[in-house]
Amino acid sequence: QKLEDGLLSSSSISTEELKEAAGFDVNENESSVSITVVGASGDLAKKKIFPALFALYYEGCLPKHFTVFGYARSKMTDAELRNMVSKTLTCRIDQRENCGEKMDQFLKRCFYHSGQYDSQEHFEALDKKLKEHEGGRESNRLFYLSIPPNIFIDAVKCASSSASAASGWTRVIVEKPFGRDSESSAALTKALKQYLTEDQIFRIDHYLGKELVENLSVLRFSNLIFEPLWSRQYIRNVQLIFSEDFGTEGRGGYFDNYGIIRDIMQNHLLQILALFAMETPVSLDAEDIRNEKVKVLRSMRTLRLEDVVIGQYKSHTRGGVTHPGYTDDKTVPKDSVTPTFAAAALFIDNARWDGVPFLMKAGKALHNRSAEIRVQFRHVPGNLYNRNIGTDLDQATNELVIRVQPDEAIYLKINNKVPGLGMRLDRSNLNLLYSTRYSKEIPDAYERLLLDAIEGERRLFIRSDELDAAWSLFTPVLKELEEKRTIPEYYPYGSRGPVGAHYLAARYKVRWG
Ligand code: NDP
Ligand code: BG6
Repeated sequence: QKLEDGLLSSSSISTEELKEAAGFDVNENESSVSITVVGASGDLAKKKIFPALFALYYEGCLPKHFTVFGYARSKMTDAELRNMVSKTLTCRIDQRENCGEKMDQFLKRCFYHSGQYDSQEHFEALDKKLKEHEGGRESNRLFYLSIPPNIFIDAVKCASSSASAASGWTRVIVEKPFGRDSESSAALTKALKQYLTEDQIFRIDHYLGKELVENLSVLRFSNLIFEPLWSRQYIRNVQLIFSEDFGTEGRGGYFDNYGIIRDIMQNHLLQILALFAMETPVSLDAEDIRNEKVKVLRSMRTLRLEDVVIGQYKSHTRGGVTHPGYTDDKTVPKDSVTPTFAAAALFIDNARWDGVPFLMKAGKALHNRSAEIRVQFRHVPGNLYNRNIGTDLDQATNELVIRVQPDEAIYLKINNKVPGLGMRLDRSNLNLLYSTRYSKEIPDAYERLLLDAIEGERRLFIRSDELDAAWSLFTPVLKELEEKRTIPEYYPYGSRGPVGAHYLAARYKVRWG
């Protein structure tokens, strides 16, 4: 009867119910997803990946039949992995009573397999275990490479030849760094493509999963008021600012080989820039968006040494507390000139952005932690009020600030009349503060990206031609800095960074926001 009713009114009954009514075993037809975190004993896995997977589970976003496997060389039992993972899971989504129960249910789906990253035999053993959990269903497999880049290829080779899905899809999430210049990045891509197709590679840039970065396109393309202003005609400069109020703590070994330009600018800030400056894509389809990003990146001028300022933090004592300098880290050579701060002026040579400076600033051990996009608009032509007021407001132009973190917000600085009988203007903000507007906590970037990878949504992952374009902008300057062993400007831990960044901005008539 249910089947008959369903056929008459297909909207009132789900496909699953129809199948069930027709005598199919629904569960048998459901596919499974196995997620293997390669490098499960590491920092990123503990800090981000397992908590993000739990949050997805908690929200009911993971498929019904899923299993999480940790894989690394460290010896651990399933129970030990669960114990390790449980320490970093939080019910940050809300404090509902069943959180503990959900955690237990999630941990029961987590398993561990110890093995070498270059051993076919060990990956075959993993494959066997995965099959047991998949229980004969169609299997889909996601491998998250949370390991140092020098072992990416070994792991991909073994995972793809010995543990890829027999029936469904196999996808691999690759963490940065994707090489350290154009050549090494191209070599990595070439090596990955020996074992995987481009469609199977999900290069992660977690900044693309941040709520306000995702919102950039919504802001631009679904509000009439912004897009007409989004060009050299109205915008004087754009600033992309990243700062952290802590040093390289614990990651000095990795960092010294890369430096801040590779760690933050070439990927996180440049990705934001591409989304900010791209033309309207044909559709929201991943390929259409990525085509536009590549186009704008390829229109950019290669960065020149004179448009870059570099710095490195030094030890500083404040309030009786001494903060170590960058080279005080035991894993960093004493004479290292690796920049922990950089500012750069970039330009897009196309009709929309000709002559508009895009200024980037990124640094560690600065006075605060924040990531922002600042858009400074041009002066109002023939501004009536300049003549009458004659204060600092003469220079006060509108500024749109997109605060990616912390305290996510979008605000627009406007000139406004101070209420009263006189005529006094001040600068006020039209303010969209997320914490007051939205009650729901913002998901971590890794949640969005993991979910997208599971669903095969590639929009927020980096395509290989995007990567090539990004590296070609920065590689010459990185080489020059290294060949010349350019000495960075030293700045005290916890300060606002080197003064050189202000001179660079001033050269383009810009004042940092
Ligand atoms: P870890 O240094 O913690 O390494 C992860 C695991 O890889 C370790 O637990 C270890 O597992 C194994 N491993 C480490 N070094 C070697 C080696 N030389 N040879 C073989 N295996 C090794 O890395 P993270 O977890 O910090 O980062 C993982 C990836 O994510 C890296 O590519 C990193 O650049 C990237 N990343 C990390 C971020 C972070 O905040 N941590 C942020 C953004 C990107 P075992 O010994 O058990 O095999
Ligand atoms: C990583 C960098 O990609 O991003 C780190 O390697 C940096 O050096 C981190 O600390 C910042 O990410 P978030 O999300 O904390 O701003």
